[in-house]
Amino acid sequence: MNESIKHIKEYEANGSPALAVRRWCREFTDREGISPYACVLTFGCQQNEADSEKMRGVLCDLGYAITDDPNMAQVLLFNTCAVRDHAEKKVLSVIGQYKHLKAVRPSLIIGVCGCMSAQAERREKLKRSYPYVDFATGPAAAGKLPSLIASRLGGKKRSFDYTEENEIFEGVPVKRSEDFRAWVNIMHGCNNFCTYCIVPYVRGRERSRRKEDIIDECRELIASGVKDITLLGQNVNSYGRGLYEDYAFPDLLRDVCSLEGDFKVRFMTSHPKDATDELFKVMSECEKAARHFHLPLQSGSTRILGLMNRRYTFDGYLEKIEKMRALMPDITITSDIIVGFPGETEEDFEQTLEALRLVKYDMLYSFIYSPRKGTPAAEMDGQIPKEISNARFSRLLELQNEIAREKNEAYIGKVVRVLCEGESKTDADTYAGRSDGYKTVFFPERRDAGEYVDVRIERADAFALYGRCEK
Ligand code: SAH
Ligand code: SF4
Ligand code: F3S
Repeated sequence: MNESIKHIKEYEANGSPALAVRRWCREFTDREGISPYACVLTFGCQQNEADSEKMRGVLCDLGYAITDDPNMAQVLLFNTCAVRDHAEKKVLSVIGQYKHLKAVRPSLIIGVCGCMSAQAERREKLKRSYPYVDFATGPAAAGKLPSLIASRLGGKKRSFDYTEENEIFEGVPVKRSEDFRAWVNIMHGCNNFCTYCIVPYVRGRERSRRKEDIIDECRELIASGVKDITLLGQNVNSYGRGLYEDYAFPDLLRDVCSLEGDFKVRFMTSHPKDATDELFKVMSECEKAARHFHLPLQSGSTRILGLMNRRYTFDGYLEKIEKMRALMPDITITSDIIVGFPGETEEDFEQTLEALRLVKYDMLYSFIYSPRKGTPAAEMDGQIPKEISNARFSRLLELQNEIAREKNEAYIGKVVRVLCEGESKTDADTYAGRSDGYKTVFFPERRDAGEYVDVRIERADAFALYGRCEK
Protein backbone atom coordinates (compact mmCIF):
# COMPACT_ATOMS: atom_id res chain seq x y z
CA MET A 1 0.00 0.00 0.00
CA ASN A 2 1.23 3.46 -0.84
CA GLU A 3 0.29 5.30 2.31
CA SER A 4 1.19 8.67 0.87
CA ILE A 5 -1.97 8.68 -1.25
CA LYS A 6 -4.81 10.22 0.68
CA HIS A 7 -8.19 8.82 -0.29
CA ILE A 8 -10.49 11.58 0.88
CA LYS A 9 -13.92 10.19 1.53
CA GLU A 10 -15.93 13.38 1.30
CA TYR A 11 -15.06 16.52 -0.57
CA GLU A 12 -15.50 19.52 1.68
CA ALA A 13 -19.29 19.32 1.32
CA ASN A 14 -20.01 20.61 4.78
CA GLY A 15 -16.94 22.69 5.46
CA SER A 16 -17.43 26.39 6.14
CA PRO A 17 -16.48 27.49 2.56
CA ALA A 18 -19.20 25.23 1.12
CA LEU A 19 -21.72 26.58 3.62
CA ALA A 20 -20.76 30.14 2.73
CA VAL A 21 -21.25 29.51 -1.00
CA ARG A 22 -24.59 27.81 -0.38
CA ARG A 23 -25.74 30.80 1.67
CA TRP A 24 -24.71 33.15 -1.15
CA CYS A 25 -26.62 31.03 -3.70
CA ARG A 26 -29.72 30.99 -1.49
CA GLU A 27 -29.67 34.75 -1.07
CA PHE A 28 -29.20 35.17 -4.83
CA THR A 29 -32.18 32.87 -5.51
CA ASP A 30 -34.40 34.72 -3.01
CA ARG A 31 -33.43 38.06 -4.52
CA GLU A 32 -33.56 37.21 -8.23
CA GLY A 33 -36.20 34.49 -8.27
CA ILE A 34 -33.87 32.04 -10.08
CA SER A 35 -30.79 30.07 -9.09
CA PRO A 36 -27.42 31.52 -10.07
CA TYR A 37 -25.93 29.78 -13.10
CA ALA A 38 -22.51 28.14 -13.43
CA CYS A 39 -20.85 27.19 -16.69
CA VAL A 40 -17.88 24.87 -17.22
CA LEU A 41 -16.22 24.96 -20.66
CA THR A 42 -14.09 21.89 -21.39
CA PHE A 43 -11.04 21.59 -23.64
CA GLY A 44 -8.90 18.50 -24.23
CA CYS A 45 -9.49 14.83 -23.63
CA GLN A 46 -12.02 12.53 -21.92
CA GLN A 47 -10.10 12.96 -18.71
CA ASN A 48 -11.03 16.62 -18.72
CA GLU A 49 -14.63 15.83 -19.71
CA ALA A 50 -14.79 13.53 -16.69
CA ASP A 51 -13.29 16.19 -14.41
CA SER A 52 -15.77 18.77 -15.71
CA GLU A 53 -18.67 16.48 -14.82
CA LYS A 54 -17.34 16.39 -11.25
CA MET A 55 -17.00 20.18 -11.16
CA ARG A 56 -20.60 20.54 -12.35
CA GLY A 57 -21.67 18.06 -9.67
CA VAL A 58 -20.01 20.13 -6.96
CA LEU A 59 -21.42 23.39 -8.36
CA CYS A 60 -24.96 21.91 -8.31
CA ASP A 61 -24.41 20.72 -4.77
CA LEU A 62 -23.42 24.25 -3.81
CA GLY A 63 -26.66 25.70 -5.22
CA TYR A 64 -25.81 26.68 -8.79
CA ALA A 65 -27.84 25.64 -11.83
CA ILE A 66 -25.73 24.46 -14.77
CA THR A 67 -25.77 26.22 -18.14
CA ASP A 68 -23.80 25.84 -21.36
CA ASP A 69 -24.10 29.57 -21.98
CA PRO A 70 -21.22 31.58 -20.50
CA ASN A 71 -23.26 34.77 -20.94
CA MET A 72 -25.68 33.68 -18.20
CA ALA A 73 -23.08 32.52 -15.71
CA GLN A 74 -22.24 33.78 -12.21
CA VAL A 75 -19.38 31.28 -12.16
CA LEU A 76 -17.50 30.57 -15.37
CA LEU A 77 -14.80 27.89 -15.38
CA PHE A 78 -12.39 26.94 -18.13
CA ASN A 79 -11.11 23.37 -17.87
CA THR A 80 -8.00 23.58 -20.01
CA CYS A 81 -5.65 21.36 -22.04
CA ALA A 82 -1.91 21.74 -22.63
CA VAL A 83 -1.07 18.77 -24.81
CA ARG A 84 -0.23 20.81 -27.90
CA ASP A 85 0.54 24.47 -28.47
CA HIS A 86 -2.69 24.87 -30.44
CA ALA A 87 -4.73 23.65 -27.44
CA GLU A 88 -3.22 26.31 -25.17
CA LYS A 89 -3.59 29.12 -27.74
CA LYS A 90 -7.22 28.21 -28.24
CA VAL A 91 -7.96 28.23 -24.52
CA LEU A 92 -6.32 31.61 -24.04
CA SER A 93 -8.22 33.11 -26.94
CA VAL A 94 -11.55 31.76 -25.65
CA ILE A 95 -10.84 33.13 -22.15
CA GLY A 96 -10.13 36.49 -23.82
CA GLN A 97 -13.55 36.46 -25.47
CA TYR A 98 -15.26 36.66 -22.08
CA LYS A 99 -13.43 39.68 -20.75
CA HIS A 100 -16.46 41.90 -21.50
CA LEU A 101 -18.71 39.77 -19.27
CA LYS A 102 -16.89 40.83 -16.15
CA ALA A 103 -17.40 44.47 -17.13
CA VAL A 104 -21.18 44.07 -17.36
CA ARG A 105 -21.45 41.71 -14.39
CA PRO A 106 -18.75 42.44 -11.81
CA SER A 107 -20.06 39.70 -9.50
CA LEU A 108 -19.05 37.08 -12.08
CA ILE A 109 -16.30 34.70 -10.90
CA ILE A 110 -13.96 33.40 -13.60
CA GLY A 111 -11.68 30.44 -12.86
CA VAL A 112 -9.17 28.49 -14.91
CA CYS A 113 -8.30 24.90 -14.09
CA GLY A 114 -7.05 21.75 -15.83
CA CYS A 115 -3.74 20.93 -17.42
CA MET A 116 -2.71 24.31 -18.84
CA SER A 117 -3.01 26.12 -15.54
CA ALA A 118 -1.09 23.40 -13.69
CA GLN A 119 2.01 25.09 -15.15
CA ALA A 120 3.37 27.91 -12.97
CA GLU A 121 4.28 30.15 -15.92
CA ARG A 122 0.78 29.91 -17.36
CA ARG A 123 -0.75 30.85 -14.03
CA GLU A 124 1.67 33.76 -13.83
CA LYS A 125 0.56 34.88 -17.30
CA LEU A 126 -3.11 34.60 -16.34
CA LYS A 127 -2.46 36.61 -13.21
CA ARG A 128 -0.60 39.36 -15.06
CA SER A 129 -2.39 39.60 -18.40
CA TYR A 130 -5.93 38.47 -17.56
CA PRO A 131 -6.97 40.69 -14.65
CA TYR A 132 -10.58 39.52 -14.93
CA VAL A 133 -9.59 35.92 -14.05
CA ASP A 134 -10.29 35.35 -10.33
CA PHE A 135 -8.39 32.15 -9.78
CA ALA A 136 -6.30 29.50 -11.49
CA THR A 137 -5.66 26.00 -10.23
CA GLY A 138 -4.81 22.60 -11.76
CA PRO A 139 -6.60 19.42 -12.80
CA ALA A 140 -9.09 17.62 -10.57
CA ALA A 141 -10.27 20.95 -9.20
CA ALA A 142 -13.75 19.81 -8.14
CA GLY A 143 -12.87 19.26 -4.48
CA LYS A 144 -11.28 22.70 -4.26
CA LEU A 145 -14.14 24.72 -5.77
CA PRO A 146 -15.94 25.47 -2.47
CA SER A 147 -12.93 27.26 -0.98
CA LEU A 148 -11.90 28.95 -4.23
CA ILE A 149 -15.39 30.36 -4.82
CA ALA A 150 -16.04 31.21 -1.16
CA SER A 151 -12.84 33.14 -0.95
CA ARG A 152 -13.78 35.38 -3.93
CA LEU A 153 -17.37 35.81 -2.73
CA GLY A 154 -15.90 36.90 0.60
CA GLY A 155 -13.84 39.59 -1.17
CA LYS A 156 -10.47 37.88 -0.71
CA LYS A 157 -7.57 38.30 -3.16
CA ARG A 158 -7.34 36.54 -6.52
CA SER A 159 -5.64 33.16 -6.15
CA PHE A 160 -3.04 31.63 -8.47
CA ASP A 161 -1.47 29.03 -6.20
CA TYR A 162 -1.42 25.40 -7.11
CA THR A 163 0.56 22.53 -5.75
CA GLU A 164 -0.08 19.10 -7.01
CA GLU A 165 -1.45 17.03 -4.18
CA ASN A 166 -1.35 13.31 -3.77
CA GLU A 167 -5.03 13.10 -3.04
CA ILE A 168 -7.97 11.24 -4.49
CA PHE A 169 -11.33 12.73 -3.63
CA GLU A 170 -14.08 10.16 -3.24
CA GLY A 171 -17.73 11.02 -2.79
CA VAL A 172 -17.58 14.03 -5.13
CA PRO A 173 -21.04 14.48 -6.64
CA VAL A 174 -20.98 14.06 -10.43
CA LYS A 175 -23.33 15.69 -12.90
CA ARG A 176 -22.98 13.53 -16.01
CA SER A 177 -23.77 14.87 -19.45
CA GLU A 178 -25.35 11.61 -20.62
CA ASP A 179 -27.66 9.13 -18.85
CA PHE A 180 -26.67 6.08 -20.85
CA ARG A 181 -22.89 6.40 -21.05
CA ALA A 182 -20.35 7.27 -18.38
CA TRP A 183 -16.66 7.75 -17.69
CA VAL A 184 -15.23 6.19 -14.56
CA ASN A 185 -11.78 7.25 -13.45
CA ILE A 186 -9.71 4.36 -12.21
CA MET A 187 -6.45 6.22 -11.77
CA HIS A 188 -4.89 9.64 -12.10
CA GLY A 189 -1.53 10.86 -13.40
CA CYS A 190 1.18 9.18 -15.47
CA ASN A 191 4.69 7.86 -14.76
CA ASN A 192 5.77 7.13 -18.32
CA PHE A 193 7.43 10.37 -19.35
CA CYS A 194 7.24 9.89 -23.10
CA THR A 195 9.70 12.56 -24.19
CA TYR A 196 7.15 14.65 -26.14
CA CYS A 197 4.43 14.65 -23.51
CA ILE A 198 3.44 17.29 -20.97
CA VAL A 199 0.85 15.13 -19.19
CA PRO A 200 3.13 13.67 -16.45
CA TYR A 201 4.22 17.22 -15.57
CA VAL A 202 0.70 18.62 -15.32
CA ARG A 203 -1.19 15.62 -13.94
CA GLY A 204 1.48 14.30 -11.59
CA ARG A 205 2.42 10.76 -10.62
CA GLU A 206 0.25 7.71 -11.07
CA ARG A 207 -2.20 6.99 -8.31
CA SER A 208 -5.04 4.47 -8.39
CA ARG A 209 -8.48 4.62 -6.87
CA ARG A 210 -9.43 1.75 -4.61
CA LYS A 211 -11.12 -1.11 -6.44
CA GLU A 212 -14.13 -1.05 -4.09
CA ASP A 213 -14.77 2.62 -4.87
CA ILE A 214 -14.58 1.93 -8.63
CA ILE A 215 -16.78 -1.15 -8.55
CA ASP A 216 -19.38 0.57 -6.35
CA GLU A 217 -19.49 3.49 -8.75
CA CYS A 218 -19.96 1.16 -11.74
CA ARG A 219 -22.68 -0.80 -9.94
CA GLU A 220 -24.59 2.41 -9.19
CA LEU A 221 -24.23 3.59 -12.78
CA ILE A 222 -25.57 0.34 -14.18
CA ALA A 223 -28.48 0.43 -11.72
CA SER A 224 -29.29 3.95 -12.93
CA GLY A 225 -29.49 2.76 -16.56
CA VAL A 226 -25.97 3.38 -17.88
CA LYS A 227 -25.20 1.00 -20.76
CA ASP A 228 -21.65 1.90 -21.64
CA ILE A 229 -18.86 2.48 -19.12
CA THR A 230 -15.39 3.70 -20.03
CA LEU A 231 -12.71 3.06 -17.41
CA LEU A 232 -10.37 6.03 -17.63
CA GLY A 233 -6.69 6.56 -16.92
CA GLN A 234 -3.62 7.84 -18.77
CA ASN A 235 -2.27 4.30 -18.68
CA VAL A 236 -4.95 1.94 -17.40
CA ASN A 237 -2.52 -0.97 -17.56
CA SER A 238 -0.62 0.32 -14.55
CA TYR A 239 -3.80 0.27 -12.48
CA GLY A 240 -3.14 -0.81 -8.91
CA ARG A 241 0.63 -0.25 -8.88
CA GLY A 242 1.67 0.99 -5.46
CA LEU A 243 -1.77 0.14 -4.08
CA TYR A 244 -2.15 -3.63 -4.50
CA GLU A 245 0.38 -6.46 -4.69
CA ASP A 246 -1.78 -8.90 -6.59
CA TYR A 247 -4.61 -7.02 -8.19
CA ALA A 248 -4.06 -5.39 -11.57
CA PHE A 249 -6.04 -4.00 -14.47
CA PRO A 250 -7.17 -7.35 -15.93
CA ASP A 251 -8.60 -8.23 -12.49
CA LEU A 252 -10.47 -4.96 -12.33
CA LEU A 253 -11.82 -5.41 -15.85
CA ARG A 254 -13.03 -8.89 -15.00
CA ASP A 255 -14.70 -7.65 -11.80
CA VAL A 256 -16.49 -4.78 -13.53
CA CYS A 257 -17.60 -7.08 -16.37
CA SER A 258 -18.98 -9.51 -13.78
CA LEU A 259 -21.51 -6.99 -12.50
CA GLU A 260 -25.09 -7.79 -13.40
CA GLY A 261 -26.89 -5.97 -16.20
CA ASP A 262 -26.95 -5.28 -19.93
CA PHE A 263 -23.93 -3.03 -20.45
CA LYS A 264 -20.48 -2.84 -22.04
CA VAL A 265 -17.14 -1.85 -20.56
CA ARG A 266 -14.35 -0.11 -22.47
CA PHE A 267 -11.13 1.52 -21.29
CA MET A 268 -8.73 4.32 -22.27
CA THR A 269 -5.76 4.45 -22.60
CA SER A 270 -3.45 1.45 -22.80
CA HIS A 271 0.30 1.79 -23.12
CA PRO A 272 1.59 -0.93 -25.49
CA LYS A 273 4.50 -1.82 -23.22
CA ASP A 274 2.04 -2.83 -20.47
CA ALA A 275 -0.74 -4.38 -22.57
CA THR A 276 -0.36 -8.04 -21.57
CA ASP A 277 -1.56 -11.40 -22.87
CA GLU A 278 -3.48 -11.67 -19.62
CA LEU A 279 -5.45 -8.53 -20.52
CA PHE A 280 -6.29 -9.85 -24.00
CA LYS A 281 -7.36 -13.14 -22.47
CA VAL A 282 -9.63 -11.50 -19.90
CA MET A 283 -11.15 -9.30 -22.60
CA SER A 284 -11.84 -12.26 -24.84
CA GLU A 285 -13.45 -14.16 -21.95
CA CYS A 286 -15.68 -11.30 -20.81
CA GLU A 287 -18.71 -10.85 -22.98
CA LYS A 288 -19.28 -7.40 -21.53
CA ALA A 289 -15.83 -6.13 -22.51
CA ALA A 290 -16.40 -4.08 -25.67
CA ARG A 291 -14.51 -5.32 -28.71
CA HIS A 292 -12.46 -2.16 -29.07
CA PHE A 293 -8.82 -1.59 -28.25
CA HIS A 294 -7.18 1.82 -28.44
CA LEU A 295 -3.45 1.15 -28.50
CA PRO A 296 -1.39 4.27 -29.31
CA LEU A 297 1.53 3.41 -31.56
CA GLN A 298 2.91 6.98 -32.03
CA SER A 299 5.45 5.93 -34.69
CA GLY A 300 6.18 2.90 -36.84
CA SER A 301 9.94 3.49 -36.55
CA THR A 302 11.58 1.66 -33.66
CA ARG A 303 14.37 4.24 -33.71
CA ILE A 304 11.86 7.07 -33.17
CA LEU A 305 10.02 5.03 -30.54
CA GLY A 306 13.35 4.90 -28.68
CA LEU A 307 13.74 8.68 -28.87
CA MET A 308 10.16 8.98 -27.63
CA ASN A 309 10.99 6.75 -24.63
CA ARG A 310 8.08 4.47 -25.51
CA ARG A 311 9.94 1.32 -24.44
CA TYR A 312 8.64 -1.06 -27.14
CA THR A 313 9.66 -1.89 -30.69
CA PHE A 314 7.36 -1.89 -33.67
CA ASP A 315 7.76 -5.68 -34.00
CA GLY A 316 6.80 -6.15 -30.34
CA TYR A 317 3.77 -3.93 -30.88
CA LEU A 318 2.67 -5.86 -33.97
CA GLU A 319 2.96 -9.12 -32.09
CA LYS A 320 0.49 -7.83 -29.50
CA ILE A 321 -1.96 -6.79 -32.20
CA GLU A 322 -1.72 -10.28 -33.72
CA LYS A 323 -2.34 -11.94 -30.36
CA MET A 324 -5.33 -9.73 -29.76
CA ARG A 325 -6.80 -10.50 -33.18
CA ALA A 326 -6.21 -14.22 -32.78
CA LEU A 327 -8.43 -14.14 -29.67
CA MET A 328 -10.94 -11.56 -30.93
CA PRO A 329 -11.01 -11.54 -34.74
CA ASP A 330 -13.63 -8.76 -35.03
CA ILE A 331 -11.96 -6.35 -32.64
CA THR A 332 -11.81 -2.67 -33.64
CA ILE A 333 -8.29 -1.29 -33.24
CA THR A 334 -7.59 2.43 -33.06
CA SER A 335 -4.42 4.37 -32.36
CA ASP A 336 -2.61 7.69 -31.94
CA ILE A 337 0.19 8.73 -34.30
CA ILE A 338 2.58 11.66 -34.03
CA VAL A 339 4.06 13.00 -37.26
CA GLY A 340 7.22 15.10 -37.37
CA PHE A 341 8.85 14.06 -34.08
CA PRO A 342 12.39 15.57 -33.88
CA GLY A 343 14.81 13.62 -36.05
CA GLU A 344 12.06 11.85 -38.05
CA THR A 345 13.56 11.08 -41.47
CA GLU A 346 11.64 10.26 -44.61
CA GLU A 347 12.56 6.63 -43.94
CA ASP A 348 11.17 6.74 -40.40
CA PHE A 349 7.98 8.26 -41.70
CA GLU A 350 7.70 5.59 -44.41
CA GLN A 351 7.88 3.02 -41.61
CA THR A 352 4.87 4.66 -39.98
CA LEU A 353 2.97 4.42 -43.27
CA GLU A 354 4.00 0.78 -43.52
CA ALA A 355 2.77 0.21 -39.95
CA LEU A 356 -0.64 1.55 -40.98
CA ARG A 357 -0.74 -0.86 -43.93
CA LEU A 358 0.25 -3.79 -41.70
CA VAL A 359 -2.03 -3.12 -38.73
CA LYS A 360 -4.97 -1.67 -40.69
CA TYR A 361 -6.42 0.52 -37.98
CA ASP A 362 -10.15 1.19 -37.96
CA MET A 363 -9.48 4.76 -36.96
CA LEU A 364 -6.55 7.01 -36.07
CA TYR A 365 -6.06 10.14 -34.05
CA SER A 366 -3.09 11.75 -35.73
CA PHE A 367 -1.16 14.77 -34.57
CA ILE A 368 1.65 16.96 -35.79
CA TYR A 369 4.38 17.03 -33.15
CA SER A 370 4.16 20.16 -31.01
CA PRO A 371 7.17 21.02 -28.79
CA ARG A 372 6.17 21.39 -25.12
CA LYS A 373 8.48 23.47 -22.99
CA GLY A 374 10.09 21.43 -20.21
CA THR A 375 9.84 18.09 -22.05
CA PRO A 376 13.05 16.43 -23.34
CA ALA A 377 11.91 16.28 -26.99
CA ALA A 378 11.54 20.07 -27.15
CA GLU A 379 15.34 20.31 -26.66
CA MET A 380 16.25 17.61 -29.18
CA ASP A 381 18.16 18.29 -32.39
CA GLY A 382 16.45 17.86 -35.69
CA GLN A 383 13.16 19.68 -35.09
CA ILE A 384 11.17 19.18 -38.27
CA PRO A 385 10.12 22.21 -40.35
CA LYS A 386 6.39 22.83 -40.52
CA GLU A 387 6.11 22.33 -44.29
CA ILE A 388 7.60 18.84 -44.01
CA SER A 389 5.37 17.83 -41.07
CA ASN A 390 2.29 19.19 -42.82
CA ALA A 391 3.08 17.27 -46.01
CA ARG A 392 3.69 14.04 -44.07
CA PHE A 393 0.50 14.57 -42.11
CA SER A 394 -1.54 14.84 -45.35
CA ARG A 395 0.01 11.67 -46.72
CA LEU A 396 -0.78 9.85 -43.48
CA LEU A 397 -4.42 10.98 -43.53
CA GLU A 398 -4.83 10.00 -47.15
CA LEU A 399 -3.55 6.48 -46.54
CA GLN A 400 -5.57 6.06 -43.36
CA ASN A 401 -8.80 7.19 -45.06
CA GLU A 402 -8.32 4.52 -47.68
CA ILE A 403 -7.70 1.84 -45.03
CA ALA A 404 -10.63 2.96 -42.86
CA ARG A 405 -13.01 3.01 -45.84
CA GLU A 406 -11.97 -0.50 -46.77
CA LYS A 407 -12.38 -1.73 -43.18
CA ASN A 408 -15.81 -0.11 -42.86
CA GLU A 409 -17.02 -1.41 -46.24
CA ALA A 410 -16.46 -4.92 -44.92
CA TYR A 411 -19.49 -4.32 -42.65
CA ILE A 412 -21.89 -3.84 -45.59
CA GLY A 413 -24.65 -6.45 -45.40
CA LYS A 414 -23.90 -7.28 -41.75
CA VAL A 415 -26.08 -6.55 -38.73
CA VAL A 416 -24.43 -4.48 -36.03
CA ARG A 417 -25.73 -3.91 -32.51
CA VAL A 418 -25.73 -0.18 -31.84
CA LEU A 419 -26.24 1.90 -28.70
CA CYS A 420 -28.33 4.86 -29.89
CA GLU A 421 -27.03 8.32 -28.94
CA GLY A 422 -30.13 10.15 -30.23
CA GLU A 423 -30.54 12.51 -33.15
CA SER A 424 -27.54 13.02 -35.37
CA LYS A 425 -25.86 16.35 -34.66
CA THR A 426 -25.55 17.16 -38.35
CA ASP A 427 -28.77 15.76 -39.81
CA ALA A 428 -32.08 16.13 -37.94
CA ASP A 429 -33.79 13.24 -39.79
CA THR A 430 -31.07 10.78 -38.92
CA TYR A 431 -30.22 8.99 -35.70
CA ALA A 432 -26.72 8.10 -34.60
CA GLY A 433 -25.14 5.56 -32.31
CA ARG A 434 -22.01 3.57 -31.61
CA SER A 435 -21.27 -0.07 -32.25
CA ASP A 436 -19.57 -2.35 -29.78
CA GLY A 437 -16.32 -1.52 -31.58
CA TYR A 438 -17.16 2.20 -31.14
CA LYS A 439 -17.86 2.85 -34.81
CA THR A 440 -20.32 5.63 -35.56
CA VAL A 441 -23.49 4.23 -37.16
CA PHE A 442 -26.30 6.31 -38.75
CA PHE A 443 -29.87 5.12 -39.37
CA PRO A 444 -33.16 6.86 -40.29
CA GLU A 445 -35.51 5.22 -37.75
CA ARG A 446 -36.30 7.21 -34.61
CA ARG A 447 -34.84 5.57 -31.53
CA ASP A 448 -34.22 6.92 -28.04
CA ALA A 449 -30.79 7.65 -26.69
CA GLY A 450 -29.63 4.70 -24.59
CA GLU A 451 -31.62 2.12 -26.57
CA TYR A 452 -29.83 -0.82 -28.23
CA VAL A 453 -30.78 -1.34 -31.89
CA ASP A 454 -29.75 -3.85 -34.54
CA VAL A 455 -28.76 -2.04 -37.71
CA ARG A 456 -28.19 -3.72 -41.07
CA ILE A 457 -25.34 -1.84 -42.75
CA GLU A 458 -25.99 -0.69 -46.33
CA ARG A 459 -23.25 1.82 -46.94
CA ALA A 460 -19.92 2.88 -45.42
CA ASP A 461 -17.24 5.53 -45.77
CA ALA A 462 -13.97 6.18 -43.93
CA PHE A 463 -15.74 7.71 -40.93
CA ALA A 464 -19.01 5.86 -40.39
CA LEU A 465 -21.45 3.06 -41.22
CA TYR A 466 -24.97 3.75 -42.58
CA GLY A 467 -27.92 1.37 -42.45
CA ARG A 468 -31.49 0.60 -41.36
CA CYS A 469 -32.88 -0.82 -38.13
CA GLU A 470 -33.81 -4.48 -38.32
CA LYS A 471 -36.78 -4.09 -35.99
N1 SAH B 1 -2.22 8.84 -21.89
C1 SAH B 1 -2.74 8.82 -23.17
C2 SAH B 1 -3.05 10.19 -23.75
C3 SAH B 1 -1.93 11.08 -23.97
S1 SAH B 1 -2.28 12.53 -24.84
C4 SAH B 1 -1.80 8.00 -24.00
O1 SAH B 1 -0.69 7.77 -23.59
O2 SAH B 1 -2.21 7.57 -25.04
C5 SAH B 1 -3.05 11.90 -26.31
C6 SAH B 1 -2.17 11.85 -27.51
O3 SAH B 1 -1.69 13.13 -27.83
C7 SAH B 1 -0.91 11.02 -27.36
O4 SAH B 1 -1.15 9.66 -27.51
C8 SAH B 1 -0.05 11.57 -28.47
O5 SAH B 1 -0.31 10.92 -29.70
C9 SAH B 1 -0.51 13.01 -28.59
N2 SAH B 1 0.50 13.94 -28.07
C10 SAH B 1 0.96 14.04 -26.80
N3 SAH B 1 1.90 15.00 -26.72
C11 SAH B 1 2.03 15.53 -27.95
C12 SAH B 1 2.84 16.56 -28.51
N4 SAH B 1 3.73 17.22 -27.79
N5 SAH B 1 2.67 16.85 -29.84
C13 SAH B 1 1.80 16.16 -30.59
N6 SAH B 1 1.01 15.19 -30.12
C14 SAH B 1 1.12 14.87 -28.81
FE1 SF4 C 1 1.88 11.13 -22.13
FE2 SF4 C 1 3.15 8.85 -22.55
FE3 SF4 C 1 1.89 9.27 -20.23
FE4 SF4 C 1 0.48 8.93 -22.44
S1 SF4 C 1 1.84 7.41 -21.50
S2 SF4 C 1 0.14 10.51 -20.88
S3 SF4 C 1 1.74 9.89 -24.00
S4 SF4 C 1 3.68 10.39 -20.98
FE1 F3S D 1 -5.96 15.59 -21.50
FE2 F3S D 1 -4.92 17.73 -22.54
FE3 F3S D 1 -4.52 17.21 -20.03
S1 F3S D 1 -5.04 15.79 -23.51
S2 F3S D 1 -4.52 15.02 -19.90
S3 F3S D 1 -6.48 17.66 -21.02
S4 F3S D 1 -3.03 18.02 -21.41
